[in-house]
Amino acid sequence: MMETLYQLTNVAHAYGERQVLQIDTLDIRQGEILALVGPSGAGKSTLLRLLNFLETPTHGRIQFQNQASQPMPLHLRRRVTTVFQRPFLLNRSVSANVRYGLRLRGRRDHTHAVEKALEQVGLHEMARQPARTLSGGEAQRVALARALVIQPDVLLLDEPTANLDPQNVALIEKIITQLNQEQGTTLVLVTHNIFQARRLAQRAALLMNGRLIETAAANDFFHHPTQPQTAAFIRGDMVY
Ligand SMILES: Nc1ncnc2c1ncn2[C@@H]1O[C@H](COP(=O)(O)OP(=O)(O)OP(=O)(O)O)[C@@H](O)[C@H]1O
Ligand SMILES: [Mg+2]
Repeated sequence: MMETLYQLTNVAHAYGERQVLQIDTLDIRQGEILALVGPSGAGKSTLLRLLNFLETPTHGRIQFQNQASQPMPLHLRRRVTTVFQRPFLLNRSVSANVRYGLRLRGRRDHTHAVEKALEQVGLHEMARQPARTLSGGEAQRVALARALVIQPDVLLLDEPTANLDPQNVALIEKIITQLNQEQGTTLVLVTHNIFQARRLAQRAALLMNGRLIETAAANDFFHHPTQPQTAAFIRGDMVY
């Protein structure tokens, strides 16, 4: 039985008057890969921002590692990091971008760690290249290296392989699997790619209009969904 890492209870989030998320309960388990799928605008990125404590929900409670205080203590917030849907790279070298994540966390002895992270994503030969000259796939891998270098307990990935070619997709999927298996990193993966979710996730959740329609073990979710919306979504009846 895996330990519960996050426990969400009656969590709602609104922007102004508009409520975009309403989650009655959601548990995320230590060491799992949870795929979060759903149409555009469903609230997936918003949920990741809450899980990274970048925003505080307008209602409800998010418990993380048995703590529910708001704001979450810094040492716990630092265990979580996100690779955003549109990663922002500094106008500096590749390695400076990776080092930046460590600097933010006050870590100094980093040359080896930066090299290792760049090696993991296959970019060690580009360490000195200006980040602005990278291709889209390379930039995505730098963003991933910047997250890996801090060795988070929880890695939140928002469409990490959107717009990448099959070779880059395979590379990133391999990194995700290795992180989970070898370092026990908990991953929440937002993806529009149902096949990717099937390849990687142990559990999956469907979010629509801010609500969780179904959360289940991957095998049940993809092969025996209980909700008609899930069945339709994985059949591709709803294509976005
Ligand atoms: N800062 C904000 N202010 C106002 N509305 C917002 C804000 N951020 C998100 N929203 C709205 O909340 C809803 C959910 O957005 P979110 O980005 O979480 O969707 P998503 O599921 O990640 O979609 P996509 O698959 O297109 O990335 C959208 O309707 C969006 O317009
Ligand atoms: Mg999004």
